[in-house]
Order: sequence, then structure tokens, then C-alpha cells
Amino acid sequence: LSDTTAAAAFTAAQQAYARGDAITAIWFYLDALVRAPDHPVYRQAALNSLVQLDSYQKLPRAALIALEACATDPALDVQALAGVVKNLYLDHPSFAPIDEALRAGWNAFDAAVSHGAFDAFFNNTLLLAALTRTAINAEPAERALTRLRRASLHSPALLARHRPFIEAMACHCVRTRHMWGEAPSEQAELAAAGVTTADKALLHCLYHSPLNLPAPQQALLPPVLQKIVADRHEERRLADTLAQFTNISPGLSTAMQAQYESFPYPLWEQYGGSQPATWDDFLARFVRAPLYAVPRPAQPEILVAGCGTGRFCIDFARYLPDARITATDLSKTSLGYAMRRAREANVSNIQFGVGDILRLGELNRSFHFIECGGVLHHMADPLAGLRALVDLLVPGGLMCIALYSERARVPIVDARAFVAAHNFPDTIEGMRAMRQAVFALPATDPVRRISRRMDFYWADGLHDLVFNVHEIRYTPLGLKSLIADAGLSFLGFELNNPAKWAAYTAQFPHDPLGRDLGAWNVFEETHSDTFRGMFQFWLQKPA
Ligand SMILES: C[S@@+](CC[C@H](N)C(=O)[O-])C[C@H]1O[C@@H](n2cnc3c(N)ncnc32)[C@H](O)[C@@H]1O
Repeated sequence: LSDTTAAAAFTAAQQAYARGDAITAIWFYLDALVRAPDHPVYRQAALNSLVQLDSYQKLPRAALIALEACATDPALDVQALAGVVKNLYLDHPSFAPIDEALRAGWNAFDAAVSHGAFDAFFNNTLLLAALTRTAINAEPAERALTRLRRASLHSPALLARHRPFIEAMACHCVRTRHMWGEAPSEQAELAAAGVTTADKALLHCLYHSPLNLPAPQQALLPPVLQKIVADRHEERRLADTLAQFTNISPGLSTAMQAQYESFPYPLWEQYGGSQPATWDDFLARFVRAPLYAVPRPAQPEILVAGCGTGRFCIDFARYLPDARITATDLSKTSLGYAMRRAREANVSNIQFGVGDILRLGELNRSFHFIECGGVLHHMADPLAGLRALVDLLVPGGLMCIALYSERARVPIVDARAFVAAHNFPDTIEGMRAMRQAVFALPATDPVRRISRRMDFYWADGLHDLVFNVHEIRYTPLGLKSLIADAGLSFLGFELNNPAKWAAYTAQFPHDPLGRDLGAWNVFEETHSDTFRGMFQFWLQKPA
């Protein structure tokens, strides 16, 4: 590889990845990164490639150093690092001795820690970054970390020698809202642990929210936990300034509001990487199919309906600085999160307000583009919701909608039935109990599949995934009637999976734009995971 340039290595990586050769792709990504360590695209690609790696221990030292630099870069999405933790657990040379020491008892573990036996493991930069910044989504790693959490109540040496590890683990526990299982005596062990007030405050965060600590103890927490406390206070302050666009309809809207006040979703971390662009760029990039009679205003009006915690509206605002964006949701907690993130990103072209989609006609506004992702399927009558949005769209205006797929969600439907059959309460404690019950099932039980989903590993995700108070699912034929009943044209799916596209167009050559929902219905019967994320699609109102 010595004479390849960074760009050539990056291209080679993409080509290897496209032909399914993940290992070669990883080596080329790392080659690009070693040559151009600060390039944001190479950095992100190198991190993402870790997901495919069964053992990062095989990487050369220089590549590891480059990855460590990426892991602490706040501009990167580091969820792939969660895979590193799985690898660390499975093949880090010090993990087996840690396991042995834990089995020998707290004193033996403490003695080994105090002699520095496990320094390489606990000081690992990638492990600390993964704990601080991701939700670790692997059951074996979770089990190992759960034992280390309990060990930190019993090992003064761990607390003294590896405080950054305990701080990172506390940060993980707080961000995921303490979903790990615990032994019956663990709360009593927590009450007895820690000598100094600062230790006690830190250990508290391994099991409980820092928000319920008295302020003087919060002030003793490490900066990363103090930031979480400060953020939640700021979000509440901002939420109190929100405009009330509409009242909330009684019934399901009110129940949904209560749910997303307690479990705002998603608590996203990284901003999208797009450079500012124009409306025409936007149309070309996102709506890849030919368009007719789309309005081309100088200042596009965009509505993000059910914007939740603001992931998409902030992306749109950054991408389209000339657009005027209206973002609304039922949940003030979610909107508070969105407002804080918008402020941090210096975004000022979004107007946030509390509103119910069913009543948005009261705004007396019209929009060139409406985004509504993962929302309508939580309404009692999604068609009524869609029609309310169509009324707000200018003639020729566009919509991007995301809805659940009946076939792709079979594992979630199984898990919802499991929750109903066992009567797990709709609370944090109920979700914890449900998770342990899932882990206790035989590996072949279909309900076990839910533990492969990322959202299984944090409370707000699990609530949205399985404990949601209401959801409706669709087949492509169901979408076809919904879209026809709303008087809209279907422009095609947003499906970033070249292999699925190739399979679809090979089976249905008459439909190169992928607009035949009857054909998609046939395709989905044999490719049931195609819309695992959701059906995400584009619609247009007749001009
Ligand atoms: C799964 S979250 C999706 C959030 C956001 N669209 C995203 O993709 O990140 C669903 C959101 O829909 C909102 N929602 C549900 N019914 C609504 C309604 N009738 N009017 C406005 N928002 C609603 C909820 O409050 C919640 O924040």
C-alpha cells in the first residue's frame, strides 16, 4: 500500500465494501486514515468499519492510535465503538483474568486491581469512549459490565486507580437510564459503598439519575455528568418558553403526549454532516426521481410534524439556511431537547411550538415541504393525520413520511405480545424486568430476537420500540390505499441499500424508479427485512 494516496485508499475501501469484502475495506479505510488522520469522512468511515471487525486487537498500533483520536472527536458518530466493547470483552487478553479474579471474591479482585493487573483493560481509550458516548448493544458485554459495576461498590482500588472507567460507566448508565439488571442486595451494597461524599455521588450515578442528588453533591460529579445535569435543566428552561401552536386533542394524542414527556425519543448525539445548500440541491439529493411542478421558492417553508427531539429539523435547518422551518410536537420534554441542540448548533431558522397534528390547520399556514417521520403510525387514525398535513401543503408540495412495516416488525410484535402476556408494567422497573426475562429465554425463542435491536439497550429506545402505547403497521398495499385516500402521488422509497435495490429492479424491470407499490408488496413477502428501519418515502400533492 506504500504508494497509494489517502484518496485512492478511500476509494479502494468503498469498492471493497460494495463487493461485500469488509475486511479488505477496513484495511483500506485505515490506510486512508493513517495518511490523512484529520479527514472527517475517512475518520467516520474508519470508525463505522469497526462494526464488521471481529477482533480489533489484530490492528497495528498506528491504526489503533488513529482510531483512538477518532473516538474522542465530538464531530463523529461513534456508535460503532459499541462493537469494540463486544470485541474487548470477547478477546482482550486481560478479560479472562478479570473474570477469574471476580470469581475469587471482591478481596482478590481488589488486590489484583491495586497491583495494576488490569490497567491495560481499564485504561483503554476506545472502551472509555464507547462507555461515555454509546449505548453498548451486546448482551455478553452488558453482563460483564454489570459485574464490574457491582465490583466498583466493593473495590476501593478500582475506584481509586480507575476512576475514569467508573466515570465512563456512570455516564453510560445515566444515558441509558440504568437498564442493566441488578442483584437483590445491590441497593444495600450501594448504600454502604464509598467513603467520601464525591465517591458516593459518583457511585449513585451508576444506579440512579444525578438529577435526584442534592445540588452540593451534583457539584462533586465529574464534568461529563455535570454536563448532563446542566443540559436537562437548560432543556426544562427552554421548554418553558415554548409557543403553544394548538391545543392537544383528548384521547390518544394526550396519552402519546404523556408517553413522550416521560420517554423522549430519540436522544440523538451527533449532528448530520451536510454542508449548507440550496432548495434545488435538496430536491436533487433527496428526491432522486424526476419531479414535475415542484414549487421553487426563494425561502422554502418547511414543516417538521412530530419533530420529537429535533434530529431532522436541525439537519434541515443546517442544510437549508434559507428555509424557514416550523417544528412541532406534543412533547415539551422532546422539544426542550431539540431547542438546546439547535442552540448548540447555532441554528436560528427553526420556530418550535407545541402542537397536535390533528389541529395544525389552526396555524393558517402553508408549506412547500412537510417531514413527518415515525409519527402517523402512533395516531388512532393515521389517514386523518395525513389529511391534516395535506391541507397544509401547497399544490405540488412534497412530503417525506416514515411508517412501520408489518413484515419487518414481526420480532417487535412478538416482544409486545411477550410484554402483554407477562404484564410488565409500563415503567422503568417494568422495562428492566422485561429485559432480564428476555435474556433468560432460550436462545432459540423468537422473542430473544428483540435483544438484537439497538433500542433494546436504553430506556427511551426500548419504550419507543416495545412499550409504545399505540402503533399501527403497514404493508406496501396498505401504504398504497393510505396514499390514494389522501389524494397524493407516491414518488418512491428512500432506501439506502444497494443490494435490495438491485434485487428489486432485477425482479421488476418494468419499475426502475421503484414506484409500483403492488410490486414492492410482492418483493417484501420474500425480503421481509427490507424496511427494517421503517418505510421511508416521498409523496407529492397534485399541482
Ligand atoms: C418516534 S418519535 C419520532 C420523532 C421524530 N420524528 C424523529 O424521527 O426523530 C414520535 C413523535 O411523534 C409525536 N407525536 C405523536 N402523535 C402526535 C400528534 N398527534 N401530533 C404531534 N406529534 C405527535 C410524539 O410526541 C413523538 O415525539
